[in-house]
Amino acid sequence: MQVIQGIKELEKFRSSLVKQEQLGLVPTMGALHAGHLSLLENARQQTDQTMVSIFVNPLQFNDSKDFDKYPKQIEKDLELLEKGGCNIVFIPDAKEVYTQQPTLSFQFGYLEKIMEGYHRPGHFNGVAIVVSKLLNIIRPHKAFFGEKDLQQLRVIQYLVKDLSMPVEIVPCTTLRETDGLAMSSRNMRLNVSQRQRALLLSQSLRKAKELLGKIPHQEIELLIQKDFSAETLEYFSIVEKQSLKKCSDPFQDKEVALCVAAFIDEIRLIDNIIVSS
Ligand code: PAJ
Repeated sequence: MQVIQGIKELEKFRSSLVKQEQLGLVPTMGALHAGHLSLLENARQQTDQTMVSIFVNPLQFNDSKDFDKYPKQIEKDLELLEKGGCNIVFIPDAKEVYTQQPTLSFQFGYLEKIMEGYHRPGHFNGVAIVVSKLLNIIRPHKAFFGEKDLQQLRVIQYLVKDLSMPVEIVPCTTLRETDGLAMSSRNMRLNVSQRQRALLLSQSLRKAKELLGKIPHQEIELLIQKDFSAETLEYFSIVEKQSLKKCSDPFQDKEVALCVAAFIDEIRLIDNIIVSS
């Protein structure tokens, strides 16, 4: 496994690729877990050379405390990637990624007004800037993103389509712990009791899934809100899977996404499941 830090070195590697070789990229912010490794596995199956980037992108944190507390474990990450069969790890330096404060900013219309877009102003602009930079610098044939961050996945799909970027975005399913908790780097910050309370997110999704089609969506949302009375629920939304627009009753011939975001004390977690009628 080759570790590359500088952009010049990266360009050298990129131009050494044989023409027929497909390059797969998995962008991450490190603090890797089995969810990230499942993206790498997808990349390994679909491409010839796999690259994982590790960069905690300051521009996408709307809360500076969240940025400061973002878990870092580079040695362990490198071990996991080596074991996972990654070919190249790209760990750029913030000074090289951001040689200036970007003048460009992205707006994703409706996606800015709902769920993550509404609750984390500027977040998707930061994600889009850094993902554009990574795609432009690395020029992968395929890039792998998790459905765990469904709205981020949609933002990136629009970004690539709107700018005609020559890359295929490959969505990958969410990996969970055996008790249902979606894997996340932020889970590392949970203590034992918080870890238990965090189960509320995946439980609420399963409960809502059972109720879909039986009672109106609004009633489902109210029931879930009640379950969260002791925790800070930011949103629980029943939306159309592709557009992420509010999904009206009845639940027929539709693929919907159930999306939730909540704070377990100061730790913000998100989760979603996709349900077909
Ligand atoms: P990060 O949170 O490190 O996630 C990197 C990738 O792993 C994302 O595509 C995310 O959706 C995916 N992922 C996270 N948890 C997962 C799980 N339990 N199962 C499957 N995939 C999972 O998302 C980011 O970083 C950043 O915003 C980034 C795209 C790297 C831009 O900075």
